[in-house]
Amino acid sequence: MKKVLAKRSKKKTDKEILREILKISEDILNISDIDILLDKILYEVRRFTSAEGGTIFMVEDNKLRMSYTQNDILFEENPANRYKYLNKEIPLDPKSIAGATAINGDVLEFKDVYKLGSSCACGFNKQFDIDSGYRTKSMISIPLKSARNRVIGVMQIINAKDENGKVGHFTDQDKLFISYFANDATIAIEKAKSTRAMVLRMLRMVEYRDPKETGGHVNRIGTYAVEIYQRWAEKRGFPAELIRRFKDKLKIAAMLHDAGKIAISDQILKKPGKLDEDEFNIMKMHAVFGYRLFSGKESELDAMCAEIALSHHEKWDGSGYPGKMEGMMTSSCIVPAAGKKDMEIPITGRIVAVADVYDALISKRVYKDAWDEDHVLEYMKASAGTHFDPEVVEAFFEIYDIIKAIREQFKENPEKHG
Ligand code: C2E
Ligand code: SIN
Ligand code: FE
Ligand code: FE
Repeated sequence: MKKVLAKRSKKKTDKEILREILKISEDILNISDIDILLDKILYEVRRFTSAEGGTIFMVEDNKLRMSYTQNDILFEENPANRYKYLNKEIPLDPKSIAGATAINGDVLEFKDVYKLGSSCACGFNKQFDIDSGYRTKSMISIPLKSARNRVIGVMQIINAKDENGKVGHFTDQDKLFISYFANDATIAIEKAKSTRAMVLRMLRMVEYRDPKETGGHVNRIGTYAVEIYQRWAEKRGFPAELIRRFKDKLKIAAMLHDAGKIAISDQILKKPGKLDEDEFNIMKMHAVFGYRLFSGKESELDAMCAEIALSHHEKWDGSGYPGKMEGMMTSSCIVPAAGKKDMEIPITGRIVAVADVYDALISKRVYKDAWDEDHVLEYMKASAGTHFDPEVVEAFFEIYDIIKAIREQFKENPEKHG
């Protein structure tokens, strides 16, 4: 979780503000994952306004869905809290501040949301504060309007801090920044949503072929992978911006790790029992088929999809597959060969291996029962250095409370992806 500076920097000129917006906008237009984009948008607005927290709601099916939320105070001690508040829905009506903002399409600003007075017919829902022990005070609530003036969401920023780091009001400079930046943020959100629609279409194709490749499973793998990566990379002191860019692609590419299964026949893919050796050798080809699917490498995202598809079943000790195969682009079955080992396996593959096996063991499959948690964790620990990169397993255990929160958030829901 990124921490925002406690104190406000000195006053800027309008020109400086606009230049800053231009630079940030260029940056966010290159983000392809919607969650990572929302995270970055909130972070930038909070950085500019020195605000403690913020939330983005998206309009969906005539409701407002809490799609992303940040709070320095609440989530600092317990990052897993963040997943608790995601995806809550509120009605799209003028009774709430977010609803009023979406319906009227105007910016609303309050010095203290506990004293709304006559400025808005809406009321602040204190339940969130009551549940969490937090005190929301100043707030600015901004509609996210698309080019055709349609409100696609609402961004709320709360508890701006003054020069002394105390909760105060939003300044005129804040309002100028937010009103301009909101336009660019909206464009970036619409672009990421269209990328997401393409990805979801692909995931649905995989699910049609293999009904056990559910939305819950792919979302868990994608989310586990980015959280493990975050910890692993932070321990190495990687720059925050590099981590963010990498995570953006990793989330999507990890979700597509088994896309190559669409090329495996039903007889094998849907076999209710154990695969024999020949069948398993064909099944192993899903790694190669997935690689071929993305090998055009039209974009950095495609390149990462190809890399993960190919390497997610390699093992640290060299006993995995498909290994260093010649003729990877034309072969039709796996030729047993030496696997890649340790650092020959890309970090993406080493991370997705941990995420995928954890999820496979703790879940029920057509060919196996769910294992109990203690047994799974014991297995993960014991496989460090044989199947898995020990440092990736270490990162996995360090964030295990987050892993559990993700498992809770993406419980099996076969209806939808994401
Ligand atoms: P999957 O079900 O997602 O499993 C991913 C990986 O989790 C497996 O890769 C394996 O490393 C690990 N895993 C899953 N279940 C177990 C288990 O009971 N014990 C242990 N020690 N590890 C487990 P793997 O083996 O390369 O398999 C790749 C994919 O092939 C599996 O993905 C699944 O779709 C399919 N598959 C593997 N074995 C069988 C089988 O006996 N029957 C059927 N129908 N499918 C299988
Ligand atoms: C994506 O964002 O492209 C995948 C779906 C999700 O984030 O839930
Ligand atoms: Fe796989
Ligand atoms: Fe998998």
